[in-house]
Amino acid sequence: MKILIIGSGGREHALAWSIFDSPLCDELIIAPGNPGIAQLGRCEAVSAEDTAALVALAKNEAADLVIVGPEVPLVNGLADDLIAANIPVFGPHAAAARLEGSKAFARDFCDRHNIPQPKWQNFTKAEAATAFAAKLNGYCVIKADGLAAGKGVVVCSNLKEAEQAIIELLGGRFGLASQEILVEERITGPELSAFALMDGKSVLWLASAQDYKRAFDGDAGPNTGGMGAVSPSPHETDVLRDQIMSTIITPVAKGMAAEGCPYNGVLYAGLMLTEGGPKVIEFNCRFGDPEAQVVLPRLKSDFLSAALTVVEGGLENFDLRWIDQTAVTVVMAADGYPGSYQKGQPIHGADQLETAAGGLIFHAGTASADDGQLISAGGRVLAVTALGNDRQLARSEAYAAVKTVFWPDAMFRTDIAAD
Ligand code: AMP
Ligand code: GLY
Repeated sequence: MKILIIGSGGREHALAWSIFDSPLCDELIIAPGNPGIAQLGRCEAVSAEDTAALVALAKNEAADLVIVGPEVPLVNGLADDLIAANIPVFGPHAAAARLEGSKAFARDFCDRHNIPQPKWQNFTKAEAATAFAAKLNGYCVIKADGLAAGKGVVVCSNLKEAEQAIIELLGGRFGLASQEILVEERITGPELSAFALMDGKSVLWLASAQDYKRAFDGDAGPNTGGMGAVSPSPHETDVLRDQIMSTIITPVAKGMAAEGCPYNGVLYAGLMLTEGGPKVIEFNCRFGDPEAQVVLPRLKSDFLSAALTVVEGGLENFDLRWIDQTAVTVVMAADGYPGSYQKGQPIHGADQLETAAGGLIFHAGTASADDGQLISAGGRVLAVTALGNDRQLARSEAYAAVKTVFWPDAMFRTDIAAD
């Protein structure tokens, strides 16, 4: 089969790596890809956000399956356009991707289907939003309704902070995405990312992970796209998994089907484990980045075969097998990320995906200079993953693999999976 993967980050490198080895895959194309991904397949310079050009590429190549990595093309309707062109796609329709594309849609949906979540309301006017924040004693979270690359959320401890955030967001900090905002009750507890496959009817639990969102050790500093991850989450138990499936994942699948927009693809539920049970913080309509870099390396089953089952139906009979180990990934970022940072710094020792010691180096923001030298080209540059029999072993293997990369200005957290 000819498989086309859309995206250019560490998540897509992990997807390409897991599909490259599949006996079902004859040819792998990635748009636009990156230098690491280029070792596994042919990269085509088409932007992941140019829907029309992606559909044309998929048609020209006669792709047997398109796997979409990031959220923006899904929210913009890439899956709909591919299906209209008779090209099978792993990733939800725009109507189902609204679970990520509109936080107000996701919250309303949870209310309609009794899915546990914090109290919330949506607003377009600052005065009413502030009044609701005052009801919550200022201990609340202010969110842009639309996509804001993970940055449209302000966690507040008092009314003054809440007021300021409300004014900034409604004042256009995220353009159209924050014309409407949500004010939510601020809930507390450990966070867990839950991943499940959905074929429109059936659901299959995939994995849990924990993401480290803050830039610096000890969960200090600004929010980032994710500085590291561990899978499974240290909080996962059989009982918790059953509870998440029965109170959140299955009701999402049933609710979407009942509302006429069945969900196909991977659902990523960002949860908080509160004293009253797991509650929904957010939904994403795709794999996490860097969570994919710890979930996929643990998978013993053929991911491509699972993805095809998602597209064709029949997940209820699909048996997923896992490697009985923990995976840890450490993100190596450019110094200054998520603020301003330099690009073009040479990186040595990251040319091979598999390190001699068994680590995996997934590329995110890398490029090849004219002379072929690998250079940094983004904020999050590499995600270095290792497996181990327990969290501590996986963690020390991952940091040992980080040491094999020579990039003096790299910034990375030293406490991923330490707690
Ligand atoms: P989101 O982009 O919605 O995942 O939010 C980013 C981060 O903000 C989450 O990972 C949580 O740490 C925090 N957060 C979001 N919503 C809430 C909430 N209602 N209560 C407490 N923390 C929240
Ligand atoms: N790591 C968070 C995300 O992918 O949204």
